[in-house]
Amino acid sequence: MWFLGMDVGTGGTRAVVVDGNGKLISGASSEHAPFRTPHPGWAEQDPEDWWRAAQEAIRGAIKAAPEPHEEIAGIGLTGQMHGAVMLDENGAVLRPSLIWCDVRTQPECDWLTEKIGYEKLIELTCNPALPNFTLTKLLWVKTHEPETFKKIRHIMCPKDYVRYRLTGEFAIDVQEASGTLLLDVTHRRWSKEVAEAAGIPESWLPKVYESPEVCARISETAAGLTGLKAGTPVVAGAGDQGAGAVGMGILQPGSVSATIGTSGVVFAATAQPTKDPKGRMHTFCHAVPGVWHVMGVTQGAGLSLNWLKNTFFAGQNYDAMTAAAAQVPAGSEGLMWAPYLMGERTPHLDPYVRAAFAGISTIHTAAHFTRAVLEGVAYSLKDSFTLFTELGIPLSDVRLGGGGARGPLWRKIQAGVYGMTVECLVAEEGGAFGCALMAGVGTGHWANLDAACDQAIQVAQRIAPDAAEKAAYEAGYGQWRKLYPALRSLR
Ligand code: XUL
Repeated sequence: MWFLGMDVGTGGTRAVVVDGNGKLISGASSEHAPFRTPHPGWAEQDPEDWWRAAQEAIRGAIKAAPEPHEEIAGIGLTGQMHGAVMLDENGAVLRPSLIWCDVRTQPECDWLTEKIGYEKLIELTCNPALPNFTLTKLLWVKTHEPETFKKIRHIMCPKDYVRYRLTGEFAIDVQEASGTLLLDVTHRRWSKEVAEAAGIPESWLPKVYESPEVCARISETAAGLTGLKAGTPVVAGAGDQGAGAVGMGILQPGSVSATIGTSGVVFAATAQPTKDPKGRMHTFCHAVPGVWHVMGVTQGAGLSLNWLKNTFFAGQNYDAMTAAAAQVPAGSEGLMWAPYLMGERTPHLDPYVRAAFAGISTIHTAAHFTRAVLEGVAYSLKDSFTLFTELGIPLSDVRLGGGGARGPLWRKIQAGVYGMTVECLVAEEGGAFGCALMAGVGTGHWANLDAACDQAIQVAQRIAPDAAEKAAYEAGYGQWRKLYPALRSLR
């Protein structure tokens, strides 16, 4: 018996097939068109492109699986969080999606905060109004494109649109729904009060499920397009951060991960919804029923390295860039990178601040710039660890995920900057893997996510921080922390 997990990411969609022992059988990816930025801070993608990529990824993953093929007994979906997909009464997409890193909606955040009240909003949803959250994107459309807003009948997040195309059902899970700012995170149900205050009819909202629950089945049409069997159960799944945490075994309170994908996330599971009165981190329902999580988000993590490569290292690959950067001493001889290409979330909650290199002198080479980017992103994730410590959230060994866990240099930099032992997993496949495990739980193959992860997840490597590098980074972090206040004054 096999399970299929699919991650509708920002750069592309990836599908994986996992067997009944939790072992990866095959995987395939299909790239998306890059998001469009018609104005600084805007980011839009076309839902139809995700659906095209999803079909390609599913067909590719099935094709890549060795014969004889076993039945795909369940499917789990994950994806980039927070994006707003708006459909009309016929289920047609009304406009491109404003995606997670689009930060145009500060005026809408201010309006909502004024309307509901800052403390009341945190009481109702556990979070403040941030431009990343889905509701604020809907409010932008309401103000700027009222004709489009009038036609909306269904709203959803990116992976839930792909679910709609696969099954015809409108459904969402509690973890993803937490990032819309429309969920009562404490009680794991939609907040009638917030929806009403914001002018969002409840009929637009998909039905909410716990992540491992079966919520839909593959339609005949989708079966014909993907090679899946009609009637295959689909579980609710989770946003990429929730599913990625499951894929890394971050299930129970006390466990912590740091994931560097396009964004960077420090994630900790908690027994209760732990709120920050200042709203600097997110407090969401976890994909594990009865568990919550907090996370701190760096907007431009992998995005920083990707931007550096595309802008200044044309024709080079990441391996060549990081091999050169490994020759530069820890601390990049004073060169620093503040990764605020798309503003920043944790801990600054500032959509307007922009990125900078600082401390450039004639000794600095191209390799220093690469290393400074790797270090600057790690310092930015360290800001989340600093905040978690301040709020009394327990932290011990940190599991690494995403692209940041794959390269040896970024792993070592993370151990040194966080000042903690970091763990890397055998076959870290991120969210797609995590939601394949959810499919196995939802269809009764495993009793729960703990049992699935016990069987599926093994630690491959533990890296303790090098004492000299740790000291260099402690000094470097002290200097780096001075960058944000300086950049803030330049907005
Ligand atoms: C999480 C977040 C990103 C996106 C894109 O809050 O905004 O991690 O999910 O991957």
